[in-house]
Amino acid sequence: MKNWKLNSWRKHPVKHIPEYPDKKELDQVLNKIKTFPPLVFAGETRHLKQQLADVVDGKAFLLQGGDCAESFAEFHPDNIRDTFKVILQMSLVLTYSASLPVVKLGRIAGQFSKPRSAPTEIQGDKELPSYLGDNINAIDFTEKSRKPDPKRLFKAYSQSASTLNILRAFSKGGFADLNKVHLWNLDYIKKSPQAKKFKELEDKIADALAFMEACGITSDFNNRLYTVNFWTSHEALLLPFEESMTRVDSTTGEYHDTSAHFVWIGDRTRQLDGGHVEFCRGIENPIGIKCGPTSKPDEIAKICEVINPKNEKGKITLISRFGHKNVEKFLPKLIRGIKKEGLNVVWSCDPMHGNTIKSTTGFKTRPFNDVVSEVKNVFAVHQAEGSYAGGLHVEMTGQDVTECTGGARKISDADLSSRYHTHCDPRLNSDQALELAFLISDEIKKNSSYSKNAIQAAS
Ligand code: PEP
Ligand code: CO
Repeated sequence: MKNWKLNSWRKHPVKHIPEYPDKKELDQVLNKIKTFPPLVFAGETRHLKQQLADVVDGKAFLLQGGDCAESFAEFHPDNIRDTFKVILQMSLVLTYSASLPVVKLGRIAGQFSKPRSAPTEIQGDKELPSYLGDNINAIDFTEKSRKPDPKRLFKAYSQSASTLNILRAFSKGGFADLNKVHLWNLDYIKKSPQAKKFKELEDKIADALAFMEACGITSDFNNRLYTVNFWTSHEALLLPFEESMTRVDSTTGEYHDTSAHFVWIGDRTRQLDGGHVEFCRGIENPIGIKCGPTSKPDEIAKICEVINPKNEKGKITLISRFGHKNVEKFLPKLIRGIKKEGLNVVWSCDPMHGNTIKSTTGFKTRPFNDVVSEVKNVFAVHQAEGSYAGGLHVEMTGQDVTECTGGARKISDADLSSRYHTHCDPRLNSDQALELAFLISDEIKKNSSYSKNAIQAAS
């Protein structure tokens, strides 16, 4: 890797990294974190990259989801379990419809820091620095809370470690057993139309499992029926922390950011000469790049080349987030720009970040119809361009929140105040997330290239 060092990003301009008032304390905290165990193992990261290479080839689908920002206040095993359940349910819906394996990637166990559109927040006649995520400062509107505090990194590390621990237990310990799909339903969606559709799917799976059992194939003998691979991801925004979690893999001598399996560069920090691109070009993890309306196709292609000079499949995921009205304007040009250079990428769609509006009741929200419309437009464009719409990136939660309007339960602007808990952007609740998965499965069924790939994958 040419001229790359663990700290070479520090010589580049960086955006959205806070100034800590006490630099000495920050260094002490980071030096301590350097001695902490890695959260993930390099071999796992390589395994995920292989799975993403299958997505590039159209032989798998990527589902990435979780909170916009994890918080210390919402840290609870039930919340982790419920988010995990919804991701499993969505995956099952997608796997069943497309006959493709789904790569399950949580925005979880480390998704704390946030780039904010304004550096300060005004309430009444008071102006304070913005809230930047629980691993940097606190959300309360006081001067003390809004000061970046390095010690918060310890708490974030510890929360990430125990979140990952329970996720590993759920994934490998029997909770994800296909014989237990009926246990994944969350109480509050039992009456919704999604629950009815999911029940139909459960019944079909039960039939298939009964047939397989009769043939002697049961989860006792087949690990794949009993366990899942569940990977973690977050935005690699707070580079001092990412640097302190980056270690040399003793089996290969390569650098891995061990804070998560997959990290991404946000739409606001993907400058070609910036510190975030510089940091990410030196680590072996698969990297996501958010692409919004300001992204220029040739610049995105250059970023891919800088981060992935060997054009390795599975290394880069481009996450488009243009807003439902902008997809036709920007996505075809981006696809053509990437194709022209012959670059291997996973194409994923984030239908959340380009569709945020302010409700009439003053809440930041996302109309479910706009989210759906972005997904549909993205599928249509990929179909027309002959590329593979291989992934979905959503902000969602297993909790019964009212943060995005619409969906089968028709959440209105007036309903938003009832259960609006997010620490940053509005999330789909599990009902809306599942509804989206069913809608995507309809899109997949419509798209002939999926059935072709499914047949190839099976053969
Ligand atoms: C995010 O994913 O939370 C985010 C800030 O997205 P973007 O960089 O696309 O705005
Ligand atoms: Co967000």
